[in-house]
This record gives sequence, C-alpha cells and structure tokens, in this order.
Amino acid sequence: MVRSTNDPTLVTREQVEGFFIGWPNPPQPETLLRLLQGSYRVILALDGDQVVGFVTAISDGVLSAYIPLLEVLPSHQGRGIGTELTRRILDDLTNLYMIDVMCDKEVAPFYERLGLRRATGVIRRNYSRQSGE
Ligand SMILES: CC(C)(COP(=O)(O)OP(=O)(O)OC[C@H]1O[C@@H](n2cnc3c(N)ncnc32)[C@H](O)[C@@H]1OP(=O)(O)O)[C@@H](O)C(=O)NCCC(=O)NCCS
Repeated sequence: MVRSTNDPTLVTREQVEGFFIGWPNPPQPETLLRLLQGSYRVILALDGDQVVGFVTAISDGVLSAYIPLLEVLPSHQGRGIGTELTRRILDDLTNLYMIDVMCDKEVAPFYERLGLRRATGVIRRNYSRQSGE
C-alpha cells in the first residue's frame, strides 16, 4: 500500500534512491534530501520504507509558487500516484495566486487533467550545476 507524508525530515538518503532517471548529471540522494528539506511544500509517496514518488513546491508564501519537480519511480508509474501527489500539492497551494509548472509538451496533458492550462515560458539551465550545489 502506498502512503504519503509531507515531512521530508522523516526520510533518510537510503529511502530516496533511484530518482532523476534520464538526467545526465543527476543529483545524489543526499542532494535530493537537501532540496526536499529546503522546499516550501513537499509530498512524498512511500511504499513500505521506500520513497516511490515526490513532488516539491517553492514559493514566496504570498502570491506565487512554482512546482519544479515531480517524479514517480518507473516501478510505480501508471497507478495514479503522480496524479495524487499533484492534487495534494495543488490543494496545499490553493491560497496563492500563481502556481506555475514548466514541462515538456508531452507531459502537458497530465497537468491539464488537473486544471492547469498551457502558457508560454522561458527558461535557463546551467547544465554544469545539474547535480546541485
Ligand atoms: C509524469 C509522472 C510523474 C506521472 O506519474 P504516474 O504516477 O505514472 O501518473 P498517473 O498514474 O497518476 O497517471 C495519470 C494519467 O496521466 C497520464 N500520464 C502519466 N504520465 C504521463 C506523461 N509522462 N505524459 C503524459 N501523460 C502521462 C497517464 O497516461 C494517466 O492517464 P489515464 O488515467 O488516462 O491512463 C511520471 O510519469 C514520471 O515520473 N515521469 C518522469 C518525470 C517527469 O516527467 N515528471 C514531470 C516533470 S514536469
């Protein structure tokens, strides 16, 4: 059974392995732990002791929030976990004006089902920093 928590201090580096699939220079589990702990809101999906999915939000707490990361381990994809994580973090952010996500075109329908709409954005990526500070 998959359960969830919004307290990232309850998990250890051993519980957050296997994420950032396909990233050429992925953050290490300890870096993932740091970014979870530094986020404004976090929802983790756990199967037993293992984190199998997570979503983060960063925010000024007044007007705006950005959802930079959502990932479900391949072994657990297609079971509604990504949808539930996103629903829950959107609920947590419902008092804010702007809630933004940048994503690949193919993933946009996933978010549209949850009430977000397409927009245009611009981004910058410092690939040498992809694994984190
Ligand atoms: C996107 C992701 C989080 C979805 O998680 P998930 O738990 O597999 O999603 P769900 O089981 O809740 O899927 C619900 C629906 O979204 C659709 N969907 C899932 N992943 C999708 C994707 N990558 N692109 C488009 N649609 C997707 C499913 O087909 C499903 O539709 P259905 O109910 O009509 O069958 C997961 O595929 C993932 O971790 N991908 C890699 C990282 C990523 O792309 N993150 C998003 C960054 S912006």
